[in-house]
Amino acid sequence: MPIVPYGARIARFVSTVTGEAVNTGPQSDHQPGPVSENETGFEFPDMHGGKHHFESTARFVAWVRAAAPYIHAFRGKTFVVGFGGEVAAGKLAQSLAYDCNLLAALGIRLVLVHGARPQIDAELIRRGLESRIHNGLRVTDLAAMECVKMAMAVTRFEVEALLSQGLPNTPMAGGYMRVTGGNFITARPVGVVDGVDYQYTGSVRKIIAEEINADLDQQNVVLITPLGMSPAGEIFNMCMEEVAEAVAVAVKAEKLIYLCDAPGLLDDDGKLIGSVTADEAERHIEAGKGLTEDLGLYLPCAIRAVRNGVARCHLLDHDKDGALLLEFFTPAGVGTVVSRDPLFQLREATADDVGPLVALISPLEADGTLVRRGRELLEYEIDRFSVVEYDGMLVGCAALYKFSGDNAAELACLAVTPEYRRAGLGEQLMRRIEQRARRDGLERLFVLTTRTAHWFRERGFKEIDPETLPAQKRELYNLQRRSKVFVKSL
Ligand SMILES: CC(C)(COP(=O)(O)OP(=O)(O)OC[C@H]1O[C@@H](n2cnc3c(N)ncnc32)[C@H](O)[C@@H]1OP(=O)(O)O)[C@@H](O)C(=O)NCCC(=O)NCCS
Repeated sequence: MPIVPYGARIARFVSTVTGEAVNTGPQSDHQPGPVSENETGFEFPDMHGGKHHFESTARFVAWVRAAAPYIHAFRGKTFVVGFGGEVAAGKLAQSLAYDCNLLAALGIRLVLVHGARPQIDAELIRRGLESRIHNGLRVTDLAAMECVKMAMAVTRFEVEALLSQGLPNTPMAGGYMRVTGGNFITARPVGVVDGVDYQYTGSVRKIIAEEINADLDQQNVVLITPLGMSPAGEIFNMCMEEVAEAVAVAVKAEKLIYLCDAPGLLDDDGKLIGSVTADEAERHIEAGKGLTEDLGLYLPCAIRAVRNGVARCHLLDHDKDGALLLEFFTPAGVGTVVSRDPLFQLREATADDVGPLVALISPLEADGTLVRRGRELLEYEIDRFSVVEYDGMLVGCAALYKFSGDNAAELACLAVTPEYRRAGLGEQLMRRIEQRARRDGLERLFVLTTRTAHWFRERGFKEIDPETLPAQKRELYNLQRRSKVFVKSL
């Protein structure tokens, strides 16, 4: 069972910090925007001609600073973003271009792969031709191929135009992106399947990754149209999702992102699943539940991509303004991440965890929730800690302190970082400590708490008189803290 079935990533980090998602629009030295400040906060003009209100400068500064670790982590990494023709023509296409521009400006190597299904359908209708789909794949005869070429070309130019904006007072002012493309994809015909000849429908034969990387090395944004060429000089119509997957694998991308018609993968109650492993995602496909049309197409590609070396695949809602920014610059994220291995890991602490542990518990020590431990003590006692990490980041801890001479121990320093609470991590840590205590032959587990009494009570702990604590702990009991004491038989 995964440690976190659902939830941690969808805690709304941004809204806890700012009150809402933000889009500030940069104010450069050359174009000072009319930022007004008053006692209720300050305002930026937004890109739609309205105003964006921040409750306080402190919140704004905190929000920007909170994004800094992600900016450091992603600089120089390659992201492949796949999106359908409906996104390219949709109402958020312009905001998507703004956000791509920002990602590129932050040093992310960007490859964009666009589709054109609705545009192809419209062109077929315009020419009085029938759209033929078999097993979810378009059958492209010669007449249909003419429509494909027309629709792909128009869509590509429209996307290029969006990426080339630069009006003053927009997020792209002064942010020129060089958009390139080329004959990076060699195709082969799908051929005859189940007696159906797919004709000019192709699949990926080879991606010329060196050339894409050479473009990215020159800070270009690579825009790929899913048409493949064959060595015989023919053109083949290909699926956006398959091309995006193959490109992400070939260029060894850090992330493959699909913008889709759902917030991400949903569980049986319709709630967003924050992260799944490839195996879990496969079970979703087998069960056939909660899959929209896009998810049905993109999820198999996501699974293959992470199994073939792409670190993460993200499924994001194409109707959510700023989804890319919220996903990559907040710990909570907004969509579903598919990874080969579980993102949450429960493990024993090591010396390398001391720094992150100090960062996790010091705010709780400062407000009196946890007993103060110095860094040196933590270094000395690090073996007593179990920790939970999420995607390499430490997000929870708990420690086991044995009482000598008694078959008992204390569960101490249980903490989960606020953005990851209410996802069962606290309980998983408690169980881990109980397991370790049982393994050591202990019979009772104590806990001293000032503010979390009910949490422990609901998990089988019983309140006792501090006087009945084992002698060793009783001597150290801090009368001033007036902690409540709980015990559980193991
Ligand atoms: C207590 C703590 C570790 C729980 O972590 P968590 O990962 O959110 O725990 P779980 O997801 O397993 O449990 C969440 C549930 O506990 C509840 N809960 C959280 N804090 C609580 C408290 N102080 N008292 C009672 N219930 C509490 C939540 O409301 C949630 O229940 P709900 O979803 O039904 O509303 C976390 O809230 C924390 O770090 N608190 C600050 C440090 C602390 O108090 N540590 C204990 C020191 S002895």
